[in-house]
Amino acid sequence: MKKITIAIDGFSSCGKSTMAKDLAKEIGYIYVDTGAMYRSVTLYALRHNLFNADGSIREEELKAQMKNINISFQLNKTTGKPDTFLNGENVEKDIRSMEVSSHVSPIAALPFVRAALVAQQQRMGAGKGIVMDGRDIGTVVFPDAELKIFVTASAEVRAQRRYDELKAKGMEANFNDILKNVEERDYIDSHRATSPLHKAPDAIELDNSNLTIAQQQQWLYEQYRKVAE
Ligand code: DC
Repeated sequence: MKKITIAIDGFSSCGKSTMAKDLAKEIGYIYVDTGAMYRSVTLYALRHNLFNADGSIREEELKAQMKNINISFQLNKTTGKPDTFLNGENVEKDIRSMEVSSHVSPIAALPFVRAALVAQQQRMGAGKGIVMDGRDIGTVVFPDAELKIFVTASAEVRAQRRYDELKAKGMEANFNDILKNVEERDYIDSHRATSPLHKAPDAIELDNSNLTIAQQQQWLYEQYRKVAE
């Protein structure tokens, strides 16, 4: 099998991470969740009071502090999946909170944040053998990726999945708040000026609203095999 680059893009909570993580594990590739990187910058900004009371960002201060934000991943031996670290601290759980979810889109719209994270993502994928998921992986980060997938599912299905995920982790969750958050993020992610979410012309589209995880895994593995063989 050839060593390739796999880019998986799509709307929030459409199951990208699950499918990307499982495929990477199965074929022995590195997995990178780029949403976790934007979430980590958001968590840093929240902790360092870089949001004003009206929700706007203190951009100049965040820009000056970008050099102090170190994001890395380490394999969790129990889950078999990577955990996200912010300046050496495991923040895997904190970055999934509703507070981070409701502040992340404006952070991800800042050109200087995107430039820093995209450069780090390109370094991580320089040797290929990587599955990366996000919004702009097939369009901006790895436009030459050999396999590009664009995942979609209805907003209701995605909100239900995020609700179940939070409940399973014992976290507070309200379905209507989550649905509103999913719809707001869809809008911001696909209308921002820098790298808006859109399908790369050479990406394969997958609507997984009615697929089980096992069915989507099998479909993804097939796509990988066709390209890498
Ligand atoms: O996939 P997620 O919900 O964890 O992503 C969190 C936010 O980060 C989401 O609102 C969009 C943004 N994001 C992005 O702009 N570019 C990426 N490559 C990944 C995520």
